[in-house]
Amino acid sequence: MERERAGKMEITTRAPGKIILAGEHAVVHGYTAVASSIDLYTVVSLRLSTEDEDTIKLQLNDIGLDFSWPIERIKEVLSHLGSPFSSTPTTCSLETVKSLTALVDEQSFPETRIGLASGVCAFLWLYTSILGFKPATVIVSSDLPVGAGLGSSAAYCVALSAALLAFSDSVKLDVNQKGWLMFEETEVELLNKWAFEGEKIIHGRPSGVDNSVSTFGNVIKFKSGNMTRINCNMPLRMLITNTKVGRDTKALVANVSARKSRHPDAMCSVLNAIESISDEWSTIIQSHAVDDLSLSTNEEKLGELMEMNQGLLLSLGVSHASIEIVLQTTMKYKLASKLTGAGGGGCVLTLLPTQLSGAVVDKLVEELESYGYQCFTAGIGGKGVQISFDGSS
Ligand code: PMV
Repeated sequence: MERERAGKMEITTRAPGKIILAGEHAVVHGYTAVASSIDLYTVVSLRLSTEDEDTIKLQLNDIGLDFSWPIERIKEVLSHLGSPFSSTPTTCSLETVKSLTALVDEQSFPETRIGLASGVCAFLWLYTSILGFKPATVIVSSDLPVGAGLGSSAAYCVALSAALLAFSDSVKLDVNQKGWLMFEETEVELLNKWAFEGEKIIHGRPSGVDNSVSTFGNVIKFKSGNMTRINCNMPLRMLITNTKVGRDTKALVANVSARKSRHPDAMCSVLNAIESISDEWSTIIQSHAVDDLSLSTNEEKLGELMEMNQGLLLSLGVSHASIEIVLQTTMKYKLASKLTGAGGGGCVLTLLPTQLSGAVVDKLVEELESYGYQCFTAGIGGKGVQISFDGSS
């Protein structure tokens, strides 16, 4: 393979997290969402081992979990597939998910970490499908809180797919270049499709918005699997509050679907209203404000859209007491907020208008942190997935 021929045995990739500015949940049902990358990353480094080593290792650094599978054991468990190796993205069947889960269970997964087992299954599926049974060590570390609505699973699948594809013949980057490099357009489309297959193992029925924004970066509009890139022409400052209340995206998405089948007409109106909010978001952020007054008018409109979106998310049943506390707190400062991601806890976005003073933000953060929440501001709309060959020969 290309990388091995060039004597490069180790590469590093990174993929950003995301915030959904408008349209979460609605996007699962074919309505529009607007999402943006943030400058918090998941980093994957992949080191090929010499052929005489016979294990595939995975180290999840932030949660202190290490896995090691003898290659023969993986081959045995996946024997019903012949070879899982595939040059085009393929969906992991339910039968194979079960086989992979058995492999993960053999590694005495700690009870408290059971929710992460599907992420390890996704690793095994992507690894064997893209690289077959080559021995290697994969190390994952991340700035992103897990299961908080900032797209940690998508960033993991994207960075992982990128690292695996870098050792396949599908990626043709020049290994002698320095620094963080972008992939070619066709490569990036391929790796996004693989990442989506990984997300399906973790989330069941993801819309694809998370992996797309992590792959392509910037701000995107997403509807029915189709992505449009958006030029954001206004400065956007968001405070992100992590309530630290854990939740399960798969279960929340399933609850919304169940509510939709119980009340199809009412839910259709709610989802249509959310779509109008997403469309208006995208129009406003693409417009050029000619002066400070029109900028603050646009900021006010975005704040109202966030409040309306949050109200509709509440009616979908995905808010949470912890989210409501953040909303009430920011309302005291006349600031608009909404949950981001699946809800049920996780993170809340608060729009920080350009004219807002640092002292007010500090006071707000202090109040929110007194509830045990964690606040941070993240850069919005940076680059998508990248690769580095530095120090890898
Ligand atoms: O909370 P997260 O990062 O898993 O985001 C989920 C976003 C949803 O719209 C609720 C689901 C999806 O697949 O788009």
